[in-house]
Amino acid sequence: MPTPILHKERLIPGKTSKLVLHAPEIAAKARPGHFVMLRMSPAGERIPLTIADADAARGEITIVYLVLGKSTALLESLEAGDAIPDVCGPLGRPTRIEKLGTVICVGGGTGIAAMHHIARGHSRAGNHVVAIIGAREKQLLLFEKELSGFVDELVICTDDGSYGRKGLVTEPLVERLAAGGVGEVVAVGPVPMMAAVSKATRPFGVPTTVSLNPIMVDGIGMCGACRVTVGGKTKFACVDGPEFDGHQVDFDELRRRLAAFREQEATSFDRYRKEQPHGN
Ligand SMILES: Cc1cc2nc3c(=O)[nH]c(=O)nc-3n(C[C@H](O)[C@H](O)[C@H](O)COP(=O)(O)OP(=O)(O)OC[C@H]3O[C@@H](n4cnc5c(N)ncnc54)[C@H](O)[C@@H]3O)c2cc1C
Ligand code: FES
Repeated sequence: MPTPILHKERLIPGKTSKLVLHAPEIAAKARPGHFVMLRMSPAGERIPLTIADADAARGEITIVYLVLGKSTALLESLEAGDAIPDVCGPLGRPTRIEKLGTVICVGGGTGIAAMHHIARGHSRAGNHVVAIIGAREKQLLLFEKELSGFVDELVICTDDGSYGRKGLVTEPLVERLAAGGVGEVVAVGPVPMMAAVSKATRPFGVPTTVSLNPIMVDGIGMCGACRVTVGGKTKFACVDGPEFDGHQVDFDELRRRLAAFREQEATSFDRYRKEQPHGN
């Protein structure tokens, strides 16, 4: 069924937008960690996007996406008042949220939006939440205002030092871990960032959860596209995850599998851009 777009906010013009959708059935069941699969046309590919927020009372869910290729560019062409032809969810297993004391939530790039939902779940469970967020530069930083409304500590890092601390999120993470008393670390963001976070937490023996983003086709465990290796065993991220123990994930394999269709994706995006009236 078409899902109406109630509100659109361009967070980083041309790159990243936030959509609030009227999806009461999904909103009623959505928990932190869940995602939706959406399709822009009956013959189009399905793409997974994390539920960055959900309001059951209002029947709304929020998604935040980075424009990367054809499907996200088609999504970006829609405005408030339009509808997404096909949205299915909530999918995946929700985040395991327990009272743990201090939880550090690390977010990078667009992953900050997904991490925000998880961080709020931990905050509501009574945990002391430390959020560490990072982006290449100030303009690319998302959800600072939303996070600062409920987290107990917020650390901001930019690669170029244009805002917050200069450097990678792993630096303040290690400092905070060295201070002790951390029950869990959760990381959502680019694969190299999640791999680096898992490497950084390992010597401290702190349980580390990462949210994996392999290519998905059906999102319901039937096609095998989202296969990942965790602790030497095959898992399907759409039904067994997308969150897994970062100390057990084979990140090199994930990186290779994500790049498997790069040529076809580039061809499809180029064709789409050429078809646009302004050629962009
Ligand atoms: C559980 C999960 C949650 C995600 N949540 C978000 C989110 O909240 N916001 C966001 O911006 N992105 C999210 N992603 C990634 C998002 O699905 C891809 O960026 C999107 O599918 C790209 O499609 P495209 O056609 O625009 O780009 P394409 O040109 O087709 O692909 C660009 C890159 O996106 C990835 N990708 C392509 N197709 C898929 C697919 N079917 N499934 C997964 N990855 C794919 C590949 O790495 C590829 O190289 C999530 C992925 C997963 C698995
Ligand atoms: S996307 Fe098909 S099995 Fe997970």
